[in-house]
Amino acid sequence: VIFGVGLLGEVLVERKSAIIADQFFSELLAGFDPILITPCEEVKTLVEVERLATELRSRGVTRGDSIIAIGGGIVQDLATLVSSLYQRGVVWEYVPSTLLSMADSCIGGKSSINAGSTKNLLGNFYPPRRVVIDPSLLLTLSDSAIAAGLCEAMKISYCRGIDQFHLYLGIVNELESSGYEANLDIYAQLLACVLDFKRWFIQVDEFDRKERRQLNFGHTFGHALEVASNYDIQHGLAVGFGMLAATHMVSEDRELSGAEFELQEQVHLLLKPLNLQFEIDWAHFAQAFESDKKHTNDNYTLILPRFEGGAEVTFLPRTEMVRERVRRAMESSMCTGGERQ
Ligand SMILES: NC(=O)c1ccc[n+]([C@@H]2O[C@H](COP(=O)([O-])OP(=O)(O)OC[C@H]3O[C@@H](n4cnc5c(N)ncnc54)[C@H](O)[C@@H]3O)[C@@H](O)[C@H]2O)c1
Repeated sequence: VIFGVGLLGEVLVERKSAIIADQFFSELLAGFDPILITPCEEVKTLVEVERLATELRSRGVTRGDSIIAIGGGIVQDLATLVSSLYQRGVVWEYVPSTLLSMADSCIGGKSSINAGSTKNLLGNFYPPRRVVIDPSLLLTLSDSAIAAGLCEAMKISYCRGIDQFHLYLGIVNELESSGYEANLDIYAQLLACVLDFKRWFIQVDEFDRKERRQLNFGHTFGHALEVASNYDIQHGLAVGFGMLAATHMVSEDRELSGAEFELQEQVHLLLKPLNLQFEIDWAHFAQAFESDKKHTNDNYTLILPRFEGGAEVTFLPRTEMVRERVRRAMESSMCTGGERQ
C-alpha cells in the first residue's frame, strides 16, 4: 500500500494497463478509454463481470498485461473477480476512491458479488499487486459517504480492542473539531492507523476462518437492512445500524460495558446528523436475514460485541423467538440512529 496526495495522476501517467473505473471519474479519465461502471448494488453481478471481461478482450488485454481499478468498494468487488478470472488471472492494481474502500476494503483481497437477493453470496480472494491511496480523492465525497467510511473504520478499530478504539476516537475527534472538513493530513493518519489494525486480522487469519470473522460485526443485520431498503441505504451506514442492533441485542441479556456505550454513542454521532429517510420492507428484511451466508443449518450466526471489548461469533438457534429479537434490535437501532418512516 502506498499513500500520497496526487498519486492518482502519477499512476495515470505511468499507465501501461487497461482501466476499470467508477462512472464518477469519466471526465477525469476521458482520453484513457476506461471501462466505466455505474456503481450500484444491482451491478455487482456475474453478468457485469462478463461484460467487463468482454470489454477487456475488445481492448486486447492479454495475460501479460495488468488492470488498474479506480473506485469504491463496488468497483473493487467487480475488479477483483474479473481480474482473477480473465484468462485465468491477470495482475491488477487498485486506487480506492471512497473513505470506506481506503480504510477497509482495499486490503484483504476479497471480492463479493450479489446473486439473487443475497448480498455478497459469491466471491474469492485475489489481492491487487499494489494499492495506491490518494487522499485527495476524499475531497469530493458526500457527508454520508464520509460517515459510511467512518462506520467501517470504527468497526475495525473496535474489533481490534479497546486501546485501538480509543486511538481511533482520538484521531476522529480532531476531524470532528474541524467539522470533518477535508483535512488530508488527519485522514492520512486515520487511514494508516485503521489499515494497520485491519492488517493484523488478515495476518492472523487470511482466509476468514476465525479472528477475521469478527470484522463481520454489524454485517448480518446490515446486509439484510440494505436489501430491505432496496439498497437505498449505503453499505457503511447499514453496518453502523447493524452495530447498534447487535449491541441492542446484547443489552437484552446483560448490562453494557463502558466501551459498548461509547460505541453506541459514536455511531449515533455519525448517523443522526444525516437525517436519513428510508423505507424498510420487513418481510424482505426477514427473508434477507434468513438467507445470510454466515448461518449454519441449525443456527443463526451473529457477530456480537463482547463485554471486555471486541466482538465474537455467536450462534443462536433458528427459532421464532430469535427472529423476533433480531427484528426488535434492528428496529430499535433505527429509532435511535436515524429516522424511520
Ligand atoms: N470486498 C470487500 O472487502 C468489501 C468490504 C467492504 C465493503 N465492500 C463493498 O463495497 C461496497 C460499498 O463501497 P463504497 O462505500 O466504497 O462505495 P461505492 O463503490 O458503493 O460508491 C458509492 C458512491 O460514491 C461515488 N464515489 C466514488 N468515489 C468518489 C469520489 N472520490 N468522490 C465522489 N463520489 C465518489 C460512487 O460513484 C458511488 O455513487 C458495497 O457493495 C460493499 O458490499 C466490499
